[in-house]
Formats: sequence, structure tokens, C-alpha cells
Amino acid sequence: MSARRLLAGVRGDAPLSLAGHEAVHGPAPAPGPGPGLIEAAQLAGLRGRGGAAFPTAVKLRGVASQRSPRSVLVNGAEGEPLSGKDRVLMRLAPHLVLDGAMAAAAAVGAREVVVAVRADGAGAVESLRRALAERAGDPASTIVTVPVAYLAGEESALIRHLDGGPLKPVVVPPLPFERGLRRRPTLVQNPETLAHLALIARHGPEWFRGLGTPAHSGTALVTVAGEVARPGVQEVACGTPLDAVIAAAGGATQALRAVLIGGYHGTWIPARAIGAVTLDDEGLSAYGATLAAGVVVALGESACPVQELAQTMWWLAEQSARQCGPCSHGLPALAAMLAAIASGTAPPDAGDRLVLWGKQVTGRGACRLPDGAVRFLASGLRVFAAELDEHARRGPCRACPKPTVLAAPAGRRVAA
Ligand SMILES: Cc1cc2nc3c(=O)[nH]c(=O)nc-3n(C[C@H](O)[C@H](O)[C@H](O)COP(=O)(O)O)c2cc1C
Ligand code: SF4
Repeated sequence: MSARRLLAGVRGDAPLSLAGHEAVHGPAPAPGPGPGLIEAAQLAGLRGRGGAAFPTAVKLRGVASQRSPRSVLVNGAEGEPLSGKDRVLMRLAPHLVLDGAMAAAAAVGAREVVVAVRADGAGAVESLRRALAERAGDPASTIVTVPVAYLAGEESALIRHLDGGPLKPVVVPPLPFERGLRRRPTLVQNPETLAHLALIARHGPEWFRGLGTPAHSGTALVTVAGEVARPGVQEVACGTPLDAVIAAAGGATQALRAVLIGGYHGTWIPARAIGAVTLDDEGLSAYGATLAAGVVVALGESACPVQELAQTMWWLAEQSARQCGPCSHGLPALAAMLAAIASGTAPPDAGDRLVLWGKQVTGRGACRLPDGAVRFLASGLRVFAAELDEHARRGPCRACPKPTVLAAPAGRRVAA
């Protein structure tokens, strides 16, 4: 089931040196300007691995079409608390990420590459620095660290922060491909996306399509967390059955209640559906889910899902920049209503109010944080309807006082 492309040649915990990297993948083809790589990315069907799955070729083309000096920003901020895949990739296969960044820079005509890594990703930073020192003739490259925060990975907030401003999203347009770092057109891409691009540059689109499904090509890095024996990062072909991913993580350590796909902006899938779901757009669409940045969290029967919803909504409300109404008022109100349900003190129409407020919040912020929070909540309301009802009528359950799996997950984070 394991499909090692990005992590090919990685043994244990040792980063691949330039020699090791070239022994596995061969030397990178001389990067060149023009449409070659962009067309290859389009034919491969490569889409971003940072969450939104935006077609990479469209973004490359958008930056390449600009006139002023251009930049490439590798978004390794990895703000999703339960994700570890970007730091694992940058630490263990730094040259693949850099090959992709350099190939993208050549394709769009950028003269600088900035790699942003979250501040607790010291291993990734060290590996990238060592890798850069091994390489010759690349365009000017800088590695910067950014705060550990959910919004650090939102591209407009990241750019604003790197330009010396606050870590807060800005209203778009203009989008980063028109005006990004230092007001230059900027290609913002997740490290995994760039690593795939590096392999497409070597082996071509047909090779890339050799794994995955026709509609969702290639492999993906997934971070498996929660009640599994061996939480961690796996590389799987898109379309791999969810139960196979859980089995590869050592299997569930207790009966599961549900699985969260996509992280804090993700979608809950009930345990009874685990055997029927595959990790690709088609397989997940029946549940309104997408693979997003590849987080898979197994929630056990011993956890209280009402607390998981309530505390995660608080956490998301706290992470917001509170500069728009939906985040300042809407998310705390949703979280407070969930807390009231959990304690059995909510009004009888609490469920209706959650649905109504969720609709009022969606699409109203400067960024997509509130939309993602409502998506997470809406699937929780569906999947945990019985538990919510039980709490609303009878108050806290026996699992309520336990630490949650999702919110404030420091003890459960995947080592990176
Ligand atoms: C609230 C929020 C948080 C985000 N966090 C990340 C992140 O940690 N890493 C990331 O690559 N993209 C993140 N994104 C998406 C980025 O804004 C951007 O779309 C992405 O980096 C583009 O790269 P890709 O096309 O290769 O996926 C986030 C978006 C939102 C709305
Ligand atoms: S929607 Fe929320 S997180 Fe996004 S910019 Fe507005 S206040 Fe900040």
C-alpha cells in the first residue's frame, strides 16, 4: 500500500544528502523558462497539497504572465496542529523540495526563493540549510521561521508577516500571484506540491499519473493521528482505502467513533463508513470531505465528540485574527453554544441556532478560516447528532472531563 515517491530512499530518520538524493532520483533536469514544466504540471493533474487543492499549473501560469520581478514562497508554515507532513518532508527530503522550488522559479521567471518554516521545525530548517549549502548555482534563497499559529499558513497573512506586518490576512484581490512578497508577483506553494513538481520535471506527467486515480492523480503525504498504534506520516497513492491507512498506522487502539479527514477545517466521517471510503476526491465527496492537507484523525469511543467540537471551535476562534465580524462574534458564539450543549444548559433550539449562525458566518470573512470552522462543525452536527442530543438533555457524559484529542493537542502532536 505504501507508495514511496517523495520519501523514496529515506531510511529511518536521516535526511537525504545531495549525493543520496541524486542516487535515488537522478540529477534534476536543467530548469528552464517557458511553458514546458507548466504544461507538464497541467497534464499530470497536479493540485496543491496545502489544503485547497488548487491546480498548480494555473498558479504557475498566473505568476509567469506578470512583468515585474517575481518571487517563489515555499509555504512550510504548517499551521494545522495535527499535521507533521511538511516538516517531515523538508527535514528528510530537503533537496526534493528545493528542486521543485528552483524548477518553479525558473518556469515563472522568479529570481528569489523564500522558504518559510514554522518556528518549532528546527530539524527542517537545519536540513534545508545544509541542503542549500550543498547546491551551486541556485537563485538567491532564504530560509525564514514563522510563528506557530493556524493563520501563519494562510498565504496573505504569511506574506504580510514576512513583509514586516502583523500575522493577519488581508482582503484579496490582489492575489499573491499579482502582488505578494514586497509587492512582487509571488508563487505561493506548499512544500509537498513543489516536491511533486520536482518529480514531474524528471519523469513527466504520465509517470505521475501512474499512481492515484484518473481524477485525483499521484501520491499524497498524510499525517495519521489520534487512536492509532503508530501515529505519523505516510505516503499513499491518492484513492487508497481509509482503512488501509489506519492499518498501516498500526491499526486503531480502540473501537473508533469517527475519523476526521482534513484537520481542523476538515470533515467528520462516521466509523461505520470507514471501510467504504477512499482517500481521493471521488471517494470523499459523498461525505462532503476532501483530503485537504492530508490530516487523518481517528477518534475513539472513549472520547466525547461534543467536547471535541466545542473545544476545537474555541481554539479556532482564538486563532482568528478577530478583524472581521464572523471571527470576532460568530465563532465565539458557536463555541459558546456548543459548550452550553455539552453542559446540558443550552436552549431547546440550540441546534437550529448553530445551523443558522453557521450560515451567517460562511463566506463573510477576509479569509477562509470561518468557512473551514463551519465545515468542521456542520459535519460534526451530522455525525454526532445522537451524542449532541444526549448531552443537551442529560448534561456532561463520563468522557467530558478527559483531555480532548483535537483541541490543545500538544501531547498528541506527531513528532516532526
Ligand atoms: C486559515 C488557513 C490556513 C492555511 N494554512 C496553510 C498551511 O499551514 N500550509 C499551506 O501550505 N497552506 C495553508 N493554507 C493555504 C494557503 O493559503 C495557500 O493556498 C497554499 O499555501 C498554496 O499552496 P498549494 O497550492 O501548493 O496548496 C491555509 C489557508 C487558510 C485559509
Ligand atoms: S475571517 Fe477571521 S481569521 Fe480571516 S481575516 Fe477575518 S478575522 Fe481574521
